[in-house]
Amino acid sequence: MDTKELFILKLGGSLLTDKSQPNSIRKDMVKQVVQQIIDAHERLIVIHGGGSFGHPLAKKYHISNGLNKTIPKQILGLTETHQAMNKFNSFIMNAFLEKSYPTLSIQTSSLFIQESQKILTHSIDIIETTLDLNILPILYGDIILDKSGSFSIISGDQIIFQLCEHLKKYHISKIIFAMEVDGIYLDERDGNGKYKLAKNIYANELNNLRLADLGQKIDVTGGIKGKIENIKKMLTYNIPIQLINGLNEGYIMKALKNQPINCTNILTNK
Ligand code: IPE
Repeated sequence: MDTKELFILKLGGSLLTDKSQPNSIRKDMVKQVVQQIIDAHERLIVIHGGGSFGHPLAKKYHISNGLNKTIPKQILGLTETHQAMNKFNSFIMNAFLEKSYPTLSIQTSSLFIQESQKILTHSIDIIETTLDLNILPILYGDIILDKSGSFSIISGDQIIFQLCEHLKKYHISKIIFAMEVDGIYLDERDGNGKYKLAKNIYANELNNLRLADLGQKIDVTGGIKGKIENIKKMLTYNIPIQLINGLNEGYIMKALKNQPINCTNILTNK
């Protein structure tokens, strides 16, 4: 079977929302990102994070730690977390629709389920069939139910891991993380006394990185260190990864066009 190439683009929640204020969308940013995706004319799957929608509620109700009857209204909080993500997702879907661009929102919490805290994926045919129809599939960090009668959070990064594992008709040529920082900063200073951006990192160097301490807050799904752990798993599929600053004009389109940008490239060890 011939596999077709595609990109995975993860839009970080902190890029598209203002994390300092619950439920606040950076509307201009969403518009710009949508336009770049449309202009790039490439085949891709988009996944967006939770930002100021999913994270505050997930944290308030300790959703990542599963069912805990001592937390008041936790089940309601679980559904509220999902509903907040749904609302954020609708805004993004509408932004594409306004540009008459065909997208389909695929509800993560209906696609994946856990058993004993391990994500089970029965089929992602729906994503492949969406792609076959030249429709852009959009997924998002969400709640995930566990067959043991519990639940957790599935982050955008965990979704990507499932796609690496289970996409069959399509081959992922690159995973792009659009964030609000330039990439991975090292605990080394450049000529101006600023932390140095790691431009090219080989997969086997990831374990030995001395990361700059940027004092970033750790969110419910783990922040930059959690991201690096997930990246390591993705690299076992030999897929190059690019961490880019989505705030820089045109960077998302350039990344989708494989044009050079100032960012962190994580290269496979081939
Ligand atoms: C988190 O998804 C989803 C929820 C909290 C429901 P991500 O972990 O992928 O979100 P960001 O990109 O860090 O905001």
